[in-house]
Amino acid sequence: MKITVIGAGNVGATTAQRIVDKELANECVLVDILEGIPQGKALDMWESTPVEASDCRISGTNTYKETAKSDIVVITAGLPRKPGMSRDDLLAKNVEIVKGVTEQVVEHSPNAILIVVSNPLDAMAYTALKVSKFPPQRVFGMAGILDTARYRSFIALELNVSTKDISALVLGGHGDTMVPLPRYTMVGGIPLTELLPQERIHAIVERTRMGGGEIVNLLKTGSAYYATSSATVEMVEAVVKDKKRILPCSAYLQGEYGFNNVYLGVPIKIGRKGVEQIFELELSDEEKAALAKSADAVKELIDKIKL
Ligand code: APR
Repeated sequence: MKITVIGAGNVGATTAQRIVDKELANECVLVDILEGIPQGKALDMWESTPVEASDCRISGTNTYKETAKSDIVVITAGLPRKPGMSRDDLLAKNVEIVKGVTEQVVEHSPNAILIVVSNPLDAMAYTALKVSKFPPQRVFGMAGILDTARYRSFIALELNVSTKDISALVLGGHGDTMVPLPRYTMVGGIPLTELLPQERIHAIVERTRMGGGEIVNLLKTGSAYYATSSATVEMVEAVVKDKKRILPCSAYLQGEYGFNNVYLGVPIKIGRKGVEQIFELELSDEEKAALAKSADAVKELIDKIKL
């Protein structure tokens, strides 16, 4: 198993570190355009392996030949959000970056599974799909796992219970139009709607929607990366171990939920082949309307992408 992580910034480096610590690959390659940064961070991580008892070889590079024949490529290259900047402001710059990266990946790892993390997420996953011309099963994006992790962490604080006992589902684009589904949220098997009044659930949903911005405002010089990398590595692990996990991720829709030619957060089954199934849920009229609004927001971005 060989995994490449493109972008050795906060998200990429932390993702690589978690891959190494969990020993999810024999070989992990960290790539960035900045000279010395991927090499230095990778060397530092390699020097941690005797203590962490990991046999994952990690190296850093500025070129793609070292990434050849990767099984999984995680794309985190791009610019992060600054305070006051929406994910959409990043569009043009990050399309250019993700396009260039994807071309290199296709040339060196034509059979890889691509996990896209760069924002605006759904539009970047779309860019990677169109540029790579890979089957959609092998190109998907990290979104809903992070959004649900935030939602679950806030519910755990509110109810003073273990985060482990909370399962939840978020649909839609990764951004302010995401669609959390309280009626699919369970706390130890008990529906959340039986444990919290409507207005508290609403407040938690709103905090989740703005969860990325809350971190950006606190950090001031970058965006979230600890939870972001945890969520990404959960997807990597599901592929590596063929786990058949059912997780909310950004997947390419071809008729599902009534949408076409768009990436949107939906529950999918992840295994060694990538996206092995997309699950369609019965939605209420209100949920359908919220999902349609979210799809429109993603489509608006996709329409601006000239490839
Ligand atoms: N090829 C490789 N690396 C690149 C390229 C490129 N063409 N362009 C930029 N990079 C690198 C930068 O040099 C930087 O090291 O991508 C890295 C991005 O790291 P950070 O600025 O720390 O950003 P990070 O917080 O890691 O976020 C990366 O993930 O969650 C998303 O919104 C976030 O789009 C952003 C991405």
